[in-house]
Amino acid sequence: MTPHDAFLDTLRAAVGASHVLTDPDLRVSYETDWTRRWRGEALAVVRPATTDEVTAVLLACAAAGAAVIPQGGNTGLVGGSVPRAVADGPQVVVSTLRLRDVEPVDALAGEAMVGAGVTLAALQAHLRPAGFTFGVDLGARDSATIGGMIATNAGGIHVLRHGPMRAQLLGLEAVLADGGVVRRLPGMVKDNTGYHLPSLLAGSEGTLAVITRAHLRVVPIRPRRAVALLALERVGDAVSLAGDLRRSLPELAAAELFFDDGMELVLHHAAVDRPFPNRHPAYLLLEADGDDDPTELLADAVANAIGVDDAVIASDEAGRARLWNLRERHTEAISAEGVAHKLDVTLPLARLAEFIGRVPVLVTATRPGSVTYQYGHVCDGNMHVGIIGPAPDDEAVDDAVLRLTIEMGGSVSAEHGIGAAKVAWLEADRGVADVSAMRAIKRALDPGWMLNPGVLLREAEA
Ligand code: FAD
Ligand code: MLT
Ligand code: ZN
Repeated sequence: MTPHDAFLDTLRAAVGASHVLTDPDLRVSYETDWTRRWRGEALAVVRPATTDEVTAVLLACAAAGAAVIPQGGNTGLVGGSVPRAVADGPQVVVSTLRLRDVEPVDALAGEAMVGAGVTLAALQAHLRPAGFTFGVDLGARDSATIGGMIATNAGGIHVLRHGPMRAQLLGLEAVLADGGVVRRLPGMVKDNTGYHLPSLLAGSEGTLAVITRAHLRVVPIRPRRAVALLALERVGDAVSLAGDLRRSLPELAAAELFFDDGMELVLHHAAVDRPFPNRHPAYLLLEADGDDDPTELLADAVANAIGVDDAVIASDEAGRARLWNLRERHTEAISAEGVAHKLDVTLPLARLAEFIGRVPVLVTATRPGSVTYQYGHVCDGNMHVGIIGPAPDDEAVDDAVLRLTIEMGGSVSAEHGIGAAKVAWLEADRGVADVSAMRAIKRALDPGWMLNPGVLLREAEA
């Protein structure tokens, strides 16, 4: 008998023995994050299939003094979904992957109700036959779950049109640390009945509750699409063009910026064709959609744009996918080079080009020999900075880039969250009053600091 045997038996009674994983070989993929920068040991991985089972698991963890690490698809990039060194006592990963009920699409209202463990790709497939899609889309669609996307308030490629996850949320169901279930389902578009708990839980990163179900706004499919890739000499021209198009081209659905070094890395690691005969400093990928073919509108909109050296446009599915691959494969191409330091920041759009110019210089000055890749969602002012070179626990380049971001009026997390990675930077970004309000909310809903300790807020600061 180990001291944890009785606790494990309670977990087995709650979810069934086959859904309490204690074998290290079975736990390992739940204990290491997507970046390989964050890992920790769990006593067990528990896989509840219903809201009642989640409640039973949380009550058992509270009684045993165990920390709960909620986990969806484990595609998060800030170390928030895996065990870590900070918690005393055992840590239990609560995987939501079996919470995957889907209800028929409400086509009249344009709404859908799904379990938190449903992946984004599964939601998209569920909506398609009814003529709908989801307003948030991102490269990790095959694994990222709706619960994880709510918990991180994920952004992705269509924020310029539909906003982030929080803007899609009509209602949700979630289990609190004391086993209580908050349930605003179905949840109405117009609902002014006090604090909007779905909004509070969006971006809470597993620190306030385990989300079990969501009621979502969905959007009609705009079936005709065109994608253009523009090659530019100057970053500033790319940023200005994206900003102009957002105003002048209502069909604009996505605008993504990346650079020569990232393009070359993707071409090296992925089986994709070179789009232009020559290399260029900057690339702007634009997607337009509509009920009618938007190819001509897109082509006309960029025809006389300043600073464009070359361009290619695709309207067929395979051609569009080829161009999107050049952008979406950045994450895995950088990861193939080593364990990256990943930063995800927003800058005021007017200062984005200056930031992009300063970052590689700053990184090289901080840790000579490091290699910096930048890419991101340009209309949101959101740049991803991937740095290869420094050891995973060497924070110098992270600190330098985040300090610059704050100095330039930006945010240290645009869409990935604070996680375990950026806890030290929360107060510098949000200020003392905001962080103490957040701590008060945390203390009220999770006084035992059981849910995801070490993520978002430091326990010592409670
Ligand atoms: P996990 O990684 O499992 O968890 C993330 C956080 O949410 C953790 O803190 C976890 O504790 C918490 N959590 C998970 N499920 C729940 C739940 N049910 N209740 C409470 N807390 C929960 N992100 C973007 O925003 N935009 C992008 O464009 C984007 N592109 C990506 C591309 C790639 C290739 C990869 C690998 C990642 C990308 N991401 C992007 C990051 C990631 O996909 C998102 O953060 C996503 O929202 C995480 O979902 P998940 O289910 O994998 O959550
Ligand atoms: C992206 O937009 O590709 C992502 O958010 C993932 C990353 O930062 O690599
Ligand atoms: Zn992104």
